[in-house]
Amino acid sequence: MIIDDSSDIPKDLITLLQCSRRVVVFTGAGVSAESGIPTFRDPLTGLWKNFSAEMLATPAAFRRDPAEVWGWYEWRRKLVMRAQPNTAHLAIAQLARLIPEVSVITQNVDDLHERAGSEAVVHLHGSFFSPRCFACSRPHPVLSPDPDGDGDGDGDVAGAGKRIEPPRCSRCNGRIRPGVVWFGERLDRALFSQAKKAARECDVLFSIGASVEVQPAAIIPIEAERRGAQIVQINPSATALDIRSRFNLRMPAGPALEKLLRAAWPDSLRNLS
Ligand code: OAD
Repeated sequence: MIIDDSSDIPKDLITLLQCSRRVVVFTGAGVSAESGIPTFRDPLTGLWKNFSAEMLATPAAFRRDPAEVWGWYEWRRKLVMRAQPNTAHLAIAQLARLIPEVSVITQNVDDLHERAGSEAVVHLHGSFFSPRCFACSRPHPVLSPDPDGDGDGDGDVAGAGKRIEPPRCSRCNGRIRPGVVWFGERLDRALFSQAKKAARECDVLFSIGASVEVQPAAIIPIEAERRGAQIVQINPSATALDIRSRFNLRMPAGPALEKLLRAAWPDSLRNLS
């Protein structure tokens, strides 16, 4: 069923939410779009429409030009540090206070879910905030906690092309790499198993702001649906998950979640600011 801006939230969706016990919230770049963080595949503004994934998001790219890759990730990290969680992040954190068990599984490498109050977020694609050594994998402290501080690239688009030499590992002098999963790399096995387990055991799965085009993460909502969960998708655009979703909210994440909370738990809206 398609629900848009002008539709009321159907009664059976309200009942489904109010009766749900175990919920998975699976998110993609679209959940952070209203915080000003670019998605990957949206026409015009998507990162992969403007930059080459092959030149910036693979181990081979880092070997070829570590300063180019580190500088690009530092630019993105600065954008995130200057951004604030939006209504969607806050509403997702709020769901954990309304439903007995909520697992947030994200493909995003930002920390906006955590800053909105979500706990134990599973980051399938890693995080901007867990750099490690490219050679020996030793974790490295996060640098430049001040987003306005000097060095490490500017937060605006002009800084996107700025080359920055990555720091060196204190143990082996290897180059420090961003703590994200690049194309051609495996997901963390334990995290992926945890995500699949949550998907298999949930009764409702929200897929929010995800194009559901990138494997193996895209298997998460499919696993849930195969095991009998109801899928609620929030995305202004159609995706391959439409046919598996009982409810498709064709709206941006913030307004959609606000509308859902208002319908199912009217008192919960007070905390959405
Ligand atoms: P995409 O850029 O592929 O998809 C973002 C989705 O968000 C699209 O389906 C948009 O229609 C939707 N969207 C845009 N604005 C929205 C809004 N305000 N509210 C709700 N939805 C909105 O991003 P992901 O699906 O996250 O991986 O991409 C998956 C992975 O591909 C990323 O984690 C990244 C990328 O390559 C790695 O870097 C390994």
